[in-house]
Amino acid sequence: MSDKRINILMVCLGNICRSPLAQGILQQKLNPKKYNVQSAGTGGFHIGKLPDIRSINVARKNGIDITNQRAAQFSVADFDTYDYIFAMDTENYNNIIALATNQVQKDKVAMILNEINPIGNAEVPDPYYGGSKGFDNVYTLLDTACSILAKRI
Ligand code: 4NP
Repeated sequence: MSDKRINILMVCLGNICRSPLAQGILQQKLNPKKYNVQSAGTGGFHIGKLPDIRSINVARKNGIDITNQRAAQFSVADFDTYDYIFAMDTENYNNIIALATNQVQKDKVAMILNEINPIGNAEVPDPYYGGSKGFDNVYTLLDTACSILAKRI
């Protein structure tokens, strides 16, 4: 039987820091029988890896377990699988759009923080090279955006 759920994909660069958090946060806010939330990275260098320990820890601190996730790379086939594709920053947004072959595919792609300010095009900062404060900030931004998204979707 085909999956009738609404399919949502969160996308960052490595799929180990930001988008695994976005996936875990949104999953917690939506009914899994109605919504399938996944994540991917535009880069392939961390395929198969667990989320970054700093993302695991900030999620756990907020009552969310993301250790079931493994990094995957975004592929063109994801335009067919997913109804909504959310990019964490402009570079990822542009890289996803560059793979689209038609307007229907392009229209599926949006910046996640535009849930907070639809014309802001604000970015979820890449926390990879920073400390744990950066991950707390990413968590807060994504929690705010996903709360709004979960109510409207
Ligand atoms: P993410 O963070 O895109 O939020 O998963 C990064 C993870 C790894 C790298 C860069 C960003 N990296 O350069 O390996």
